[in-house]
Amino acid sequence: MAEAKWRDVGPVGPFTVKPLQEVLVDGTPIAISHHADGTFGAVSGVCNHAGGPLGDGHLDGEYIVCPWHQWKFHARTGAGEPGFEEDCVPSHEVKVEAGRLLVNLAPLTRRHKKPHEPHPLARPVKRDPGPVRVAGISTTSMDRKAPRYSGSDDLLQTALRHAETDLGAETRLIRLNDLSFRSCEGFYSKAARACTWPCSITQMDPKDELDRVYEALVHWGDVVLVATPIRWGAPSSLYYRMAERMNCVQNQVTTHDRVLIRNKVAAFIIVGGQDNIQAVAGQMLGFFAELGFLFPQFPYIAHSRGWTAEDMEKNVAFVRESRELKDGAAELVGRAVALAQHLLEERPTPDRIERGGRKAHRMTE
Ligand code: FES
Repeated sequence: MAEAKWRDVGPVGPFTVKPLQEVLVDGTPIAISHHADGTFGAVSGVCNHAGGPLGDGHLDGEYIVCPWHQWKFHARTGAGEPGFEEDCVPSHEVKVEAGRLLVNLAPLTRRHKKPHEPHPLARPVKRDPGPVRVAGISTTSMDRKAPRYSGSDDLLQTALRHAETDLGAETRLIRLNDLSFRSCEGFYSKAARACTWPCSITQMDPKDELDRVYEALVHWGDVVLVATPIRWGAPSSLYYRMAERMNCVQNQVTTHDRVLIRNKVAAFIIVGGQDNIQAVAGQMLGFFAELGFLFPQFPYIAHSRGWTAEDMEKNVAFVRESRELKDGAAELVGRAVALAQHLLEERPTPDRIERGGRKAHRMTE
């Protein structure tokens, strides 16, 4: 047994005020718990999952709940929750002497990480051979039981048909409206490293279906074609729900120096009854640039009949019947596929991109 290293962490009083708190003992974070029977527990303050601060979590009975993704560890023994006991953090002896709390820094039990099957999305990003692949993302929102005509969706389908039939590309259409997925819950706001790849929600919730979008954008597709209506001068609410969940893709650059999107192309179809096209396009271009996508020359097509055009039925009829818009959608995907083909042949993006990237400075630890 290792030699004891008892350390005085302070008067007992403050440790009885809160059920759980973190102390740094010789630089080591320890989660100190105080229980209803007046006793104390001490375990490592570093979670087995992604290093979350256990001392900042909360107690659920005898278990500490990690504040980042809710893994649980016994507050005295460090054992994982029932069924995951082997996944344990170090435990420490703790005692009270002369009104002071003492912790033995030499751990009583050791850390053990039970191997977890990695999520399929966590595999290395490696393009399989084959023709250019175009993923279409339709972001319009509607009643699934009573679908209506959508101009942006129609133009997206036109583009995908052209890509498949005339350009020999493989295509995949994803309608966000058909997927059940949670909004981003702000793991990044807890700590930059609490936002993981794959997304923490995707890893924890097998019912969340945004994995299909991640798969198409990060692994499968060479081109992503995003179609949106304009709603109150902005892309659709479903677009924003997807965009917020993409934080995990962008954040990998910042936290792990890992660029997931390389040599991929994005282009956009924007259809609005009224205007603000350039602001919508600007948002989408800025966001997809931050993810690492490249753009063809003239990377979007858009349509609006203008600020005063409240006769929406005429707008719908216009889009439905417009040969020009359909041709424009076909030409847009043509430009995107041509650029993707060039990128596939040349692979110009270097293997390593310095972490600065868009930030131009390193993250402050
Ligand atoms: S649950 Fe603790 S870091 Fe994820």
